[in-house]
Amino acid sequence: MIIQTYADLEALSRAAAELFARQAKDAVKARGQFSVALSGGQTPKRTYEILARSPFREQVDWKQIHIFWGDERCVPPHDPRSNARLARRAWLDQVPLDPSRIHPISCLPSPAAGAREYEALLRKFCTGASPGLDLIFLGLGEDGHTASLFPDNGALEEREHWTAAVYVPAQGLHRVTLTPTFINQARVVAFLVAGAAKSQALREVLQGSRDSQRLPAQLIDPEPGELYWLVDREAAEGLR
Ligand code: 6PG
Repeated sequence: MIIQTYADLEALSRAAAELFARQAKDAVKARGQFSVALSGGQTPKRTYEILARSPFREQVDWKQIHIFWGDERCVPPHDPRSNARLARRAWLDQVPLDPSRIHPISCLPSPAAGAREYEALLRKFCTGASPGLDLIFLGLGEDGHTASLFPDNGALEEREHWTAAVYVPAQGLHRVTLTPTFINQARVVAFLVAGAAKSQALREVLQGSRDSQRLPAQLIDPEPGELYWLVDREAAEGLR
């Protein structure tokens, strides 16, 4: 596990963009393609904006990149809560990706059916020497959730499936998420965590007692992959 602290969200976002570009270059050189799952929420937005502009716009071999998502809210594509909508507007619509290599999560005809369909896509894509994606970006909720893996949710124990459909009562939202089993098959997993509001969750996840039902982000431990925590100074405030 590598924890890197940055002065602020801007510095963290630039580091995340550099991590993306480095992993993409290595993957394309080694395997002719690069696969990444994007995180939702607001924290990664600045990273996405930086990747849409120079120098990253020119540096990255966009045509060889497959875009997936770590989770999605079950809302219409143009709903402001959509994770895919956020990434498309901030980044994906502005770089020359191959549209057939952008793989948004669908919740239709139902969240469960959408989860199964996404799992089938992933199982077709992740085979042989590459049982997981090259890079997965994740965020951290103030309650210790990550992707759509919320405390005390059945998806936390899912060992066979690579995706799960979950219902979040507090938000009145159905969601589809990657499961810890699949996330942990990635070559690199990178959490992006910024802001004072995340300091308690970050401290408990990283330095508190193990309680993954209460702190689902503790389930993320890629093997043999690498785990990065890119955090800003405010979020790292409480860390020893
Ligand atoms: C989602 C995300 C979720 C997010 C955290 C942090 O769809 O909501 O996948 O796991 O990463 O809730 O969100 P912020 O970056 O907005 O704080």
